[in-house]
Amino acid sequence: MIEMNWFLPTGGDSRDVLPDENSVNRAPSHAYLAQVARACEDMGFEALLTPCGTGCEDAWLATSSIIPLTSRIKFLVAFRPALLTPTLAAQMASTMQRMSNGRCLVNIVTGAEQAELARFGVNEDKETRYARTAEFVKIMRGAWSGEPYSFKGEFFDVTDATTREVPNPVPPIYFGGASEAAEKVAAETVDLYLSWGETPTDIKERHDRVAARAAEHGRKMRFGIRFHTIARPTSEEAWAVANGILNSMSPEAIEAARADFLNTQSVGQRRQYELHGGDVTKLEIYPNVWAGIGLVRGGVGTALVGSYEEVADRIIEYHNIGIDAFVMSGYPHLEEAYWFGEGVMPILREKGYLPALEGGPTKVFSFR
Ligand SMILES: Cc1cc2nc3c(=O)[nH]c(=O)nc-3n(C[C@H](O)[C@H](O)[C@H](O)COP(=O)(O)O)c2cc1C
Repeated sequence: MIEMNWFLPTGGDSRDVLPDENSVNRAPSHAYLAQVARACEDMGFEALLTPCGTGCEDAWLATSSIIPLTSRIKFLVAFRPALLTPTLAAQMASTMQRMSNGRCLVNIVTGAEQAELARFGVNEDKETRYARTAEFVKIMRGAWSGEPYSFKGEFFDVTDATTREVPNPVPPIYFGGASEAAEKVAAETVDLYLSWGETPTDIKERHDRVAARAAEHGRKMRFGIRFHTIARPTSEEAWAVANGILNSMSPEAIEAARADFLNTQSVGQRRQYELHGGDVTKLEIYPNVWAGIGLVRGGVGTALVGSYEEVADRIIEYHNIGIDAFVMSGYPHLEEAYWFGEGVMPILREKGYLPALEGGPTKVFSFR
């Protein structure tokens, strides 16, 4: 089975990948986030990934506010280990687990850009932060173990960490990061390793390496991938939307983003940039895998573009190289969720890759 997830746009939403003064933008209001979440729940998405950073609303508060408006969909919410203690993180996730009836998944974001972290008063370099992440995850798991957990390391010194109750289920820990330090932490500590979309060959090479390292620690882990998507009834319609997005990007915006990407401290971001190198003529890096969004957007820049059948086939291809979890998104997030959820997901469901829709197919009144 595939775990099919969508994205909660807590940084706001727009039809444009790089909104300007002419764009019609949507605020990440409680009502709008609820609309996205409820649409995704109805269409059978498994979970919603909430991003974190100064460009977004606070991930835990925004996500918690959606809990009572939904009943089934899960929430993949991030901690940044440099910003809080692992016992507090364990307590927050444990509370979220009870308040949501077991719908909390935890993501760990170590963070890449020094300037962004400095806003929070964090000035450690990335290697140090990854070492901190490894200790943080160990203590969080210890606090969920049901026994008082003590740990003394380089970053944390905790005595008898625990939570009021053991969360049920204990949240699985997701994690992303493409540098060597990230791969090492992933192999040693996390349950599911996330990557931004690249070609199947490049992804498989990295995942094989992480899986081999995990095996050295006697561990087996799951893998996940993050993509945007533009899926339409026909390939021509989907590519017309992609080309419209490309045409909306000014050369100045592409050049400005290029300068940023060349200075990034994130290996993952650098790899996303290198998929296109700023060249607008070489964006389909693999059939139906389009790097156009990454010309101007930081984070994941690749999209699965094509007919419903083509996008479903590509997802199955990535699944066949060992990817269990997909985190999809599109502009705007409400409408693209519908294109994908009503176009691509029924094909995957029909082929047995997704669970049956709760409540099954429904009847709609017709005049005949
Ligand atoms: C699927 C996925 C989601 C991510 N979400 C966030 C996020 O919400 N906020 C953030 O600052 N970084 C996010 N990241 C970035 C990583 O967590 C990590 O901090 C960064 O890639 C570190 O750089 P590295 O690639 O050099 O290891 C995400 C990465 C992936 C793969």
